[in-house]
Amino acid sequence: MKFFVDTADTQAISDLNDLGMVDGVTTNPSLILKSGRDIIEVTREICGIVTGPVSAEVVALEADAMIAEGRKLAEIAENITVKLPLTWDGLKACKVLSGEGKMVNVTLCFSANQALLAAKAGATFISPFIGRLDDMSLDGVELIEDIRTIYDNYGYETEILAASIRSINHVQQVALIGADVMTAPPEVIKKLASHPLTDKGLEQFMADWAKTGQNIL
Ligand code: G3P
Repeated sequence: MKFFVDTADTQAISDLNDLGMVDGVTTNPSLILKSGRDIIEVTREICGIVTGPVSAEVVALEADAMIAEGRKLAEIAENITVKLPLTWDGLKACKVLSGEGKMVNVTLCFSANQALLAAKAGATFISPFIGRLDDMSLDGVELIEDIRTIYDNYGYETEILAASIRSINHVQQVALIGADVMTAPPEVIKKLASHPLTDKGLEQFMADWAKTGQNIL
């Protein structure tokens, strides 16, 4: 499963990228706000750090304006993925921009039927939001499972990009189902390395090692 980092924090992206943990980056208007930076400038910087797809989201709501914004964002770098909302206008823009050979990430997906439409419109990625469904006591992980089944039934090549990942359990669950990609905040990705038994075991080893009185170097 590919790991995308869900942030516009260039330092955090760079740190994870140095470890080989970054296959791509996703941003959205809220993350641009959080960065406090200009969208074009920060997106260009991110594209210079990672070689994989970098999602930059349009903010227009009407198809023609979305297409114009998407074309402008795509000029930033070759690895830009134009992010479009899953509305009827977003699907129209997806059809046009993917037809031009641009990578497209259709976002704010909350149902399997929406994901089916995005695949038919030529999306490169579909972004179902797991955490926000869980927030409403619905099952976000089940949505990933349904989309996997539907895409496999018909051989759609659109990649399932599990988004709104809030916990390490989400990561494991979507990996088991076979999501192609997951995007998570840097803190969630770092937490994947943690286990209380690792900490406990290391503590014991260090205590015993001290008793040997030895040094390796
Ligand atoms: O990639 C979408 C993601 O940024 C949404 O996450 O936690 O705001 O639901 P969240």
